[in-house]
Amino acid sequence: MLKRLQELEKEALATLDAVEEEDALQAWKVKYLGRSAALAEITSGLGELPKEERPAVGQRANQVKVTLEAAYDSRVEALHAESLERSLREQLLDVTLPGRPIVRGRIHPANQTLREITAIWAEMGFQVYRSRDVESDEYNFQLLNFPPHHPARDMQDTFFTTEPEILLRTHTSPGQIRVMRERAPEPIRVVLPGMCYRYEQITARSEIQFNQVEGLAVGERITFADLKGTLIAFARRMFGQNVGTRFRASYFPFTEPSAEMDIECFVCGGEGCTVCKYTGWLEILGCGMVHPVVLQNGGYDPEKHTGFAFGMGPERIAMLKYGIDDIRYFWANDLRFLEQF
Ligand code: PHE
Repeated sequence: MLKRLQELEKEALATLDAVEEEDALQAWKVKYLGRSAALAEITSGLGELPKEERPAVGQRANQVKVTLEAAYDSRVEALHAESLERSLREQLLDVTLPGRPIVRGRIHPANQTLREITAIWAEMGFQVYRSRDVESDEYNFQLLNFPPHHPARDMQDTFFTTEPEILLRTHTSPGQIRVMRERAPEPIRVVLPGMCYRYEQITARSEIQFNQVEGLAVGERITFADLKGTLIAFARRMFGQNVGTRFRASYFPFTEPSAEMDIECFVCGGEGCTVCKYTGWLEILGCGMVHPVVLQNGGYDPEKHTGFAFGMGPERIAMLKYGIDDIRYFWANDLRFLEQF
């Protein structure tokens, strides 16, 4: 019986050395250490042996069991180490390689400029107010002193919806009426940024959608001098302390008098170049004193209150600032353009 145990041990250890895979390892365990293994049978059959043989056989059987268990454990460990090494080798992992760069998102250039503009106005004491993109004809035109069929409506060709009298705002000015009706008769200092829509031929100079930043101040004794001083202060913060400015008379139905503001061309410094079309000046916004009819429509008494308003286009300002020569780049979603900002 002792000889049989000796053979069993030898055979088990030899086959264990040849085991290379997890499945085979489990099969080995069942075969040599399992409940119905030869070793287990010898142990449970001890009682049938002659009395004097029992202690020696029992002891030896136990020894074999301990040896096989230890051999099994070290084989398990060896196999794990081997498979780890193999997978590292197969993946050819080179830990000294540089990492893959992460593509970082960024703020759209139109929004960057929009944020820059509203931040300057906020610093100057203007609240940022949001107004709706979908408007009524009444707010977009009538209350702003554009009567039906008034020729000034042609300045802003309109996208209409299938609902009668409901349209996409052509400018941020209807927000003026909304703020006034909410605040009257309190004084107002707000800017209204947002998207506007015009039914136009898309060209390098005009898009069907664009942002505007509207501004509105209403109170007592506000004059045209306040308008000029405030807008010049803005231009200095936006374009530099030494920027030259000028105002030209203009026309909008909702302001009287009306003006357009130019800044000195920062590309050529006023000498004349293609960006300023050899005039030395760049138009950046429309403005004026709030028309008495508009004040009244907003709930203010034009005998007591006055105000000024302005509207500027961030995309146009970004074009001037970064030398972008085609407005269509803004909404074309071309990463080669967007990644430059
Ligand atoms: N709403 C005008 C436009 O879109 C700009 C403007 C705003 C002019 C406020 C005067 C005052 O052209």
